[in-house]
Amino acid sequence: MVAFTGAGVAAESGIPTFRRAPGGGGPAGLWDDYSPAIYGTPWGLAAAAVVRPERFRRFVRDVAAAFFDAEPNAGHRGLGELAAEGRLRAVITQNIDDLHERGGAEPIIKLHGDLLSGRCLRCHARNAVDREVLRARLAAATERRHWRATRHILKAYPRCPRCGGRQRPDVVLFGEGLPRHQWQAAETALEECDLLLISGTSGTVYPANALPDIARQRRVTTVEISPEPTPYSGWVDYPLTGTFGETMPQLVGD
Ligand code: OAD
Repeated sequence: MVAFTGAGVAAESGIPTFRRAPGGGGPAGLWDDYSPAIYGTPWGLAAAAVVRPERFRRFVRDVAAAFFDAEPNAGHRGLGELAAEGRLRAVITQNIDDLHERGGAEPIIKLHGDLLSGRCLRCHARNAVDREVLRARLAAATERRHWRATRHILKAYPRCPRCGGRQRPDVVLFGEGLPRHQWQAAETALEECDLLLISGTSGTVYPANALPDIARQRRVTTVEISPEPTPYSGWVDYPLTGTFGETMPQLVGD
């Protein structure tokens, strides 16, 4: 089995999704509070850091608080159980948190990068970043105000251990390409699976949203867990209405 996941699988862990439900109900998404054109792009973030330091500080503080406080939910643990039983081929996720790995799932293919990884701006190496170090640095930085906060936030990722260059979070923003290796690994997993489970994604962000089509074209069994209809609900074999945290344990149970 392959799982394809998005922000919704972390909702029950306390991390807000990006988009509000199509009907306008439910909790606000991150992009309701912060414009994706600014806070989801490299040039927008760079401008906000300088021109709107207080708002930039609040954005970083909100994202960091949600990320570091979150614990895996029953859905993440359910995938972990499948992995332990040898039934999970891969989790392909658009999420940049560490909840799938902490729930015991592996391997995890992160299409949009990983907050706990830095990317060197000089030599382009990717380097794992210590969770507690980053947590402490971001907490200290966002306690400051205005440009002092900006200065410390921009230095929160430690320097590259290989060349000493500055690092940025190794995450994919709008307008940036997806990591080629991860993309190929996702395609291979979908070409080899005999069951695809989709959960927690609105299926609106290209090119990741096109990946489930590989399994669809191969006519393997497809399941979706979603509280509301998505672009996938019309064609999956089993569209299950519900949340990831409540539904996964029922699927894994027997
Ligand atoms: P979205 O915020 O677009 O969609 C979240 C989906 O999760 C919606 O379909 C919700 O109905 C569903 N959902 C909410 N709570 C749920 C729960 N408890 N269990 C299961 N599903 C639930 O998030 P993504 O589709 O992941 O990219 O967004 C895709 C990309 O857009 C992100 O990776 C990010 C964002 O902009 C970049 O920043 C490049």
